[in-house]
Amino acid sequence: MKDYVRKRDGRVHVVEMGCGTGAGAHHVCKTVLPKCTYEAIDMQQAAIRTCQQEFVPELDHRLVATRADCTEVPIEDGTADIVAVCETHVTEIAGKVLEEDRQFFTKVQSILKTGGFLVWGNAIPDKTWQPCLDYLASIGMKLVESHDVTAEAIAARDQDEARVDAYVEQCLERFLAFRIPVFGPKKRAEAEIALKNFYRNPGTNLYVDMENGTDSYKVVLLEKTA
Ligand SMILES: C[S@@+](CC[C@H](N)C(=O)[O-])C[C@H]1O[C@@H](n2cnc3c(N)ncnc32)[C@H](O)[C@@H]1O
Repeated sequence: MKDYVRKRDGRVHVVEMGCGTGAGAHHVCKTVLPKCTYEAIDMQQAAIRTCQQEFVPELDHRLVATRADCTEVPIEDGTADIVAVCETHVTEIAGKVLEEDRQFFTKVQSILKTGGFLVWGNAIPDKTWQPCLDYLASIGMKLVESHDVTAEAIAARDQDEARVDAYVEQCLERFLAFRIPVFGPKKRAEAEIALKNFYRNPGTNLYVDMENGTDSYKVVLLEKTA
């Protein structure tokens, strides 16, 4: 992929599917691919608004933030050099590729130029990787590289634990309803578990799933061959 970018003097067009607030898009535009153009897409209006306010203005029209469902986003076929997918909530069911996942990957394939790349990283059920890669192969997406980075992801969660604990504590403190006797502390504990599970914080179910191999964090690179 570096060769592909070099041959184009860095002037590549990237589409990110499920960009969140666009922090990754900002990092790539500013530091990794400073000559690229980048369309960052997310279905959440609040995330796109944050991206438009925080990151779009400083990037001189190179970054566009679009609110849309990636399974049906109206982007012209064959226009992206790179599609980036980072921790987007697809392919989360063990051993299965759902209809929504197929629509998502089909959209990735159709907006890529032939010879362009999908860069995809996520922690998902280990059993789901192969069916996804099989489906991608069936639509002309060839696996070029695959790296299992679960050990690094666990180490990252360990290093981030104190920050997550402090952040979750500060969030929960703001909700006065959690101070209502009996009912409040019960709901607070549920909210704490849900927030920390989302982070895969040490001790949560999703962290344990990475430790015992139920989920694996992989970073994969696929090329559109047809
Ligand atoms: C865990 S966040 C990751 C955000 C970002 N990629 C990052 O690494 O910080 C997952 C994002 O994917 C978005 N998402 C999930 N399915 C989507 C879909 N079908 N279309 C658009 N966005 C989607 C969610 O709204 C959410 O913001």
